[in-house]
Amino acid sequence: MSELYTKKKILAPMVRAGRTPLRLLCLKYGADLVYTEEIVDKKLIEATRVVNEALGTIDYRNGDDIILRLAPEEKGKCILQIGTNSGEKAAKIAEIVGDDVAGIDVNMGCPKPFSIHCGMGAALLTQTEKIVGILTALKAAAKVPVTCKIRVLDNPEDTLKLVREIEKCGVVALGVHGRRRDERQPDRCRYEEIREVVKTIQSIPIIANGFSGEIERYEDIEKWRDAAGTSSIMIARKALSTPSIFRSEGVLDKYKDIENFLEFACQYDECYTMTKYVVQRILGGDQEHDPRGKALVAAGSVLQICKAFKMEDCYNKWRDDRKRKQSKKRARVDD
Ligand code: FNR
Repeated sequence: MSELYTKKKILAPMVRAGRTPLRLLCLKYGADLVYTEEIVDKKLIEATRVVNEALGTIDYRNGDDIILRLAPEEKGKCILQIGTNSGEKAAKIAEIVGDDVAGIDVNMGCPKPFSIHCGMGAALLTQTEKIVGILTALKAAAKVPVTCKIRVLDNPEDTLKLVREIEKCGVVALGVHGRRRDERQPDRCRYEEIREVVKTIQSIPIIANGFSGEIERYEDIEKWRDAAGTSSIMIARKALSTPSIFRSEGVLDKYKDIENFLEFACQYDECYTMTKYVVQRILGGDQEHDPRGKALVAAGSVLQICKAFKMEDCYNKWRDDRKRKQSKKRARVDD
C-alpha cells in the first residue's frame, strides 16, 4: 500500500484555486497532501521549466503565464493533476516534471463541456481502453506514483468493472467523487457506492470525495471518510470557502483565512485574477455588505486587494524581498 495516500486529508484539485498560495495555506493548516488545479497536457508540454531564485520555486511558465509554480514547502506533498486523452502526451508530461511533484493524477471526472469536447475528464469514464492506454503509458514513464480521479457511473456495476481495470494498470491510489457525471451539488454524494469500490479494490487506498456540503467542522472530515469506508478523503469546495477546515484546532474567522492566504499570495507573487478569485470565494456574501468586501470587488491589482484588507505592508515587504534577490542575482551574473 502506498504510504503517500494512506489515511490522508487532501486538498482536492480545483481549477483557478489549487495554485501555490491555497496549496501552501492548506498544508500549513494541516492538509497532508495537496493537488494542483487540473493542467491540460498541452499547456505543460509547451511550458518552460525555470528555477526561480528570487522566490525559491520551480516554475513552469509560458511567457508571463505561470502554468505551475512549486514551492519548497510542498516538496513531497504536491500532486500534479493533468487533463489528457492521450497516453503519449501524459508520458511526455511525466518525463518533463520528473520528481518535481510527488505524484501525477489524471482527471477522469470533470463534466464541463471544455473537458468533454476534447475527450478528457468524464468523457474518459466510458472508454476503458483509452483509460488503460493513458495510465499504462503514464506509469511506464513516471518517476513518481500515478493515480486517477473518477466519478461514479450511472450503473454501480459499471463503476466496479471500471475500477477493477484501473487497479490492474498499477495506479497506487484512486480518487472517487460519489456523484454521477450529470449530478451536481446539491445532489447527495453516493457514499454507499464509494463503499462498494472500497470492498472491490483492496490493494490500494481509495480517496473519497464529494462531501463539502456536509463538512462544517474538522471532525466532520473523519466522520464522512468513515461513512465512505475509505482510507483517505479529499475536500474541494469547503477548503476553498474555509481553508482552515484542515485545522484540528478548529476553523478560523474568514478574515484570518484571507490574511493568511494573502501572505502566501504576496510571498509567491500570485497573479491578480487567481488571487481575487480565492479571496472572493472565502469572503462569500460579505462582498456585498462589508466595506472590505466592496473594496475587494473594486480592486484591480494584488496591491489593491491587499489594501482592502490593510495588508499593503505585507505586499511591499515581499515585493522588496524579490527585488533584493533579483538585484543580487544580477550582480552575481555581472561579476
Ligand atoms: C473542481 N473540481 C475539479 N476536479 C478535478 O478533478 N479537477 C479540477 O481541476 C477541478 N476543478 C474544480 C474547480 C472548482 C472551483 C470546484 C468547486 C471543483 C471538482 C472537485 O475536485 C471535487 O471533485 C468536487 O467539488 C466535489 O468535492 P467537494 O467539493 O464536495 O469536496
